[in-house]
Amino acid sequence: MSTRRHGRSRRRRNPAAAPLAILALWAIASAPAYLGRFTAPKPPSAATAFASELLETLTYPSTLPNRSSLPQTVEVNLVAEPARLSLIPGNVQTFFAFNGEVPGPTLEVNEGDRVIVHFHNKLPEPTTVHWHGLPVPVEADGNPMDPVAPGGSYDYVFTVPKGTAGTYWYHPHPHGKAGRQVSRGLFGALIVRGADDPLRASIPEKLLLLTDARVSSRGTIIFPVTLEHQGWEGNTLFVNGRREPTIALRAGEIQRWRVINASVSRYYRLALQDHTFEQIGSDGGLFERRVPRDEIVLAPADRVELLVRGTGNPGGRYLLQSLPYDRYLPGLQPEGWERTLELLTVRYASDPPITPPSLPEVLRPVPALDPAHASTTRHVILHDALINYRFFNPNRVDFTARLNDTEVWTIENRDGMDHPFHLHGFSFQVLDRNGVREPFPAWEDTVNIPKGASLRFVVRYDDYPGKRMFHCHIMDHEDWGMMGILEVR
Ligand code: C2O
Ligand code: CU
Ligand code: CU
Repeated sequence: MSTRRHGRSRRRRNPAAAPLAILALWAIASAPAYLGRFTAPKPPSAATAFASELLETLTYPSTLPNRSSLPQTVEVNLVAEPARLSLIPGNVQTFFAFNGEVPGPTLEVNEGDRVIVHFHNKLPEPTTVHWHGLPVPVEADGNPMDPVAPGGSYDYVFTVPKGTAGTYWYHPHPHGKAGRQVSRGLFGALIVRGADDPLRASIPEKLLLLTDARVSSRGTIIFPVTLEHQGWEGNTLFVNGRREPTIALRAGEIQRWRVINASVSRYYRLALQDHTFEQIGSDGGLFERRVPRDEIVLAPADRVELLVRGTGNPGGRYLLQSLPYDRYLPGLQPEGWERTLELLTVRYASDPPITPPSLPEVLRPVPALDPAHASTTRHVILHDALINYRFFNPNRVDFTARLNDTEVWTIENRDGMDHPFHLHGFSFQVLDRNGVREPFPAWEDTVNIPKGASLRFVVRYDDYPGKRMFHCHIMDHEDWGMMGILEVR
């Protein structure tokens, strides 16, 4: 975007002048810690459980209660409304929240479930609920062309497709306001479980929703009012609405972490001191095999599934950090960008190591889509925080495709900053990055395109017809108009 058009919004806001410093993010620091669904499916011995509870301060969102008694049916109520919460101890502020909670309650479903979400908008402005990454019919996708008016209601109804077991999230998608609503607290996890998940019974799970907020020196969260050229970032990190919480781990134990970047613009470069992750999945679920990684770059809206192995010392403490990542325009990095930030501390119980469970070599088969079957190659140029030099227009179709076709998309970033590219409705597989072949097929719906880089992916439109959004997931860019429409007929 040009400096001229965007000059006004680049001005720093004066925190003291923050008028409606109401509205914000994240859990209640004074709330009693409770164990959510994201603890061990089989609890360890009473002694270990007790020790772990003492070591762990991370809390987890509640799970949306299922009101249906029908088999394979999940029926839930979801309300978006202003809520008085405290994410910074001593400061109660008005957030926008799903069912009064920040993060919003987790929607947990199984592959094949029919899902009915009775949504009610009690915000003073239009909104939608988008099920990021999950293939659902167009009318259930919460896209910007289907806003729910203040005071209005809408039923989102969809069936969870087979093969989609994975980690997703939900958030509002009204055009021009999506980022501001998310930054005020409207985001939640969506977990799809598969009956064939080989780790489900044996490995305890943790859910980590990563967000940031701009906190003033007086401890007040200052919510964004204008769009920012490189995307709004906060100065304080939260995991599930908590600052610097702890996770308990036992030597030898293996935990599965589902990590969601629910931040408006912030990238995370995750590293756990003295530990190597094993990445087991990405946006659309499990990989075929585990992949060792010292670091993970998570662009906005990206998700990963990681195995964390208790290779540290009993009684030890290790920081989960976000290392600096230069996604910014040359010379225009924000102040302090090169600092390493702390997300949480992994604390080991002093108990002697346990023997880790053995893991399967193959997690699930991930068949590769064949680009030789592609009927078209699409070209997408990211420039000036626009797509193919155009602003989003809800009344224009940018690309038209045929149902059941396979296509290759080439995404070329001609900007001096990174852009995370996201397609609704269909998961894709990256073929190559800057001409370097991707080592194995994996399902993605959001992929970072570094500055100056290009990437190709293959996608098959194997389900619902209709108009689908594609956009940059730096929400300031999306709201600015870095978005287009693909119509599948
Ligand atoms: Cu996370 Cu168009 O969405
Ligand atoms: Cu999406
Ligand atoms: Cu962007």
